[in-house]
Amino acid sequence: MALGTKKHISINERRNSFDIRIKSNLARQDLIFSTVPGDKSISQRAVILNAIANGTGVVRNVLKSDDIENCIRSLQLLGVQCTWDRDDLFIEGVGLSGLKQPQCRLEIGNTATSARLLLSILGGSPFNTELSGNPLLSKRPMDWVGRPLIEMGAKINYMERTGCLPLEVTGAYPLNPIHVDATVASAQEKSAILFAGLFSNGTTSYKQLCQSRDHTERLMQYFGIDIDAKEQITTITGGKAFDCKEVIVPGDMSSAAFLLSAYAIRRKEHKGHLLIKDIGVNPTRLGFVNELQKRGMNISLEKQRMLVSNEPVADLFCTPGRTLSTGHVEGVEFVQSLIDEVPLLAAISAFTDGISVIKDCSELQDKDTNRLETTAMVLSRFGIEVTCDSNEIMVVGGKPLTPAIVDSCGDHRIAMMAAVVASSMEEPSIVRNCGCISVSYPTFLEDLSRFADIEVLN
Ligand code: S3P
Repeated sequence: MALGTKKHISINERRNSFDIRIKSNLARQDLIFSTVPGDKSISQRAVILNAIANGTGVVRNVLKSDDIENCIRSLQLLGVQCTWDRDDLFIEGVGLSGLKQPQCRLEIGNTATSARLLLSILGGSPFNTELSGNPLLSKRPMDWVGRPLIEMGAKINYMERTGCLPLEVTGAYPLNPIHVDATVASAQEKSAILFAGLFSNGTTSYKQLCQSRDHTERLMQYFGIDIDAKEQITTITGGKAFDCKEVIVPGDMSSAAFLLSAYAIRRKEHKGHLLIKDIGVNPTRLGFVNELQKRGMNISLEKQRMLVSNEPVADLFCTPGRTLSTGHVEGVEFVQSLIDEVPLLAAISAFTDGISVIKDCSELQDKDTNRLETTAMVLSRFGIEVTCDSNEIMVVGGKPLTPAIVDSCGDHRIAMMAAVVASSMEEPSIVRNCGCISVSYPTFLEDLSRFADIEVLN
């Protein structure tokens, strides 16, 4: 089935694994995207926060993806009423002590963020719940959240592998407030502690290793929660009810990054302008755009504005710049600001003339796959010289790429990165195992088909 300009991945394609055949489409045109789907991190936080607030809330432009659907289904099983109206989700909040014991195990699928945030709110709810994930998620650590929750008064029983899903949590309300020093550079760890802090009868604090994405802090401030962030320490005073809110979710920068990359590696003679509207430009997520600018790409942030929920939004406008240059990225804080874009950054480095290095990214070992390894594996299949260890990746650019058959290993960001690389070549490549794309960017193939000819196989 060839993808025309308006092809969504159908529900069946989304649920099952499928492969794609993809090659460049050489038409030179100006490309305008009215936006990309809503930000995954903000969608999950806004939905969960409304669920434990009082009254009726609405989250507009929620990402409609497998990750969010699993999160919503889990909240419904906990007694929270959620109703869709197109891309808006209406939520009847149950308050801090209103969640109900579910009648079955909560299956959270692939989403580590939701798993960790739900674990926190279950830790503050005085009943017993089983939580499980898919095989990829079951390998990822939950004890960053489990350990502090136990210290706060919850009980956790790891049912198979210590520190991982599936687990059984017995919550307590209120939880004891604690101070936590970060064990990893992770916004998920920080956010999980802050969500648990809402259920504590005092002030909980978290000291982060470096500034990571701050959507939780911004949202909690908007909800009127007593939260304060100074230098690297965030404090939150729990046990106080708060009201539901309307939240508008901006387009996901981490999804827009795939379109920016497909554009960046396109030959100059095939480039018009690129405009992607309404994208979240929170400074803690802007590393990839900054890095592309540094490497010679003309990107400007136009019509910058602030949403009421305190998230900055802009339109991204690109014109053909000079040839991309190599780069050297290091420092945990900068890497955090492009953590989900490291595979893309490695990929576009192959289109520069020389050696690029991305350091300080050991966190990538704990993603849907070990993304240092899967990125290197996919790029090397395309004939790119690449090496990695547990903390960095190095790419030698400037050599011609070869079309290839590559496997996503079930990792959405690896599947999309591979498709972007393949979109640069006139001969077709095959990307296997693309069903996972619906985890974060369900309209990706439709959007990428503006740059490439894509055929969905099997
Ligand atoms: C996320 C934080 C990041 C990111 C993930 C989403 C979040 O993970 O990789 O896709 O929503 O907080 P870490 O915080 O573990 O780095």
